[in-house]
Amino acid sequence: MTRRRLVAGNWKMNGSLAGADALVGAVVAGAKGLSAEVAVCPPFVYLPRVRELLRGSPVALGAQNVSREDPGAFTGEIAAPMLRELDCKYVIVGHSERRALYAEGDAMVADKFARVLREGLVPILCVGESLEERDAGRTEAVVARQLDAVVERVGVSELGKGVVAYEPVWAIGTGRTATPEQAQQVHAFIRGRVASRGAEVAAGLRILYGGSVKGSNAGGLFAMADIDGGLIGGASLVADEFLAICRAAG
Ligand code: 13P
Repeated sequence: MTRRRLVAGNWKMNGSLAGADALVGAVVAGAKGLSAEVAVCPPFVYLPRVRELLRGSPVALGAQNVSREDPGAFTGEIAAPMLRELDCKYVIVGHSERRALYAEGDAMVADKFARVLREGLVPILCVGESLEERDAGRTEAVVARQLDAVVERVGVSELGKGVVAYEPVWAIGTGRTATPEQAQQVHAFIRGRVASRGAEVAAGLRILYGGSVKGSNAGGLFAMADIDGGLIGGASLVADEFLAICRAAG
């Protein structure tokens, strides 16, 4: 099965209105004609502006987080229908920064994944181990736990409507990327684990790699059999660097 590659930029809590104009303008111009799908995930407050800038372009819009609740009395939260209204296609759920800094556990992440799907949007489920967990030989156990929580909540065919991003915590923002072989090993494990519940879903599932991806290392990562694109942090804030990654994806 052919899986269309996806490169998504996670701006995290960075940017400004003026900066968004310049960055998105350059990305829209540079992403023309690529076979890979390109998406940008700016902070919530910039979504309306970036949506305008993306009008008529194949570059997709995404959000970095969402509430698991329906609209209501949840001060400071953002509901899934609001993201749909702004034409978001993707929503990142379970990013390691949210798991670690905002105490999002597997159950909450699974709820968010389900809520995003119910809205007809595409969740990007982040999974990945810390350095301590890797050193203790627990990488597969941690990734399996994070993945299984979602499969048990929504079922394997619903998982297949989303995207998985493997982001080893030790490679995020550290400049220390996983080698293509290290990443491939975990991507193959993820695909195999999904295959044990549904072979067809696994064959079609896009699994992105995230963690210090740059223009210079993207080609090696994307050449691996089970790496279907990238979730890009720091490098997604620099148009030339982000576009180099997009081109490496096709
Ligand atoms: P960096 O690309 O800055 O390492 O961040 C990766 C990431 O967390 C994307 O979600």
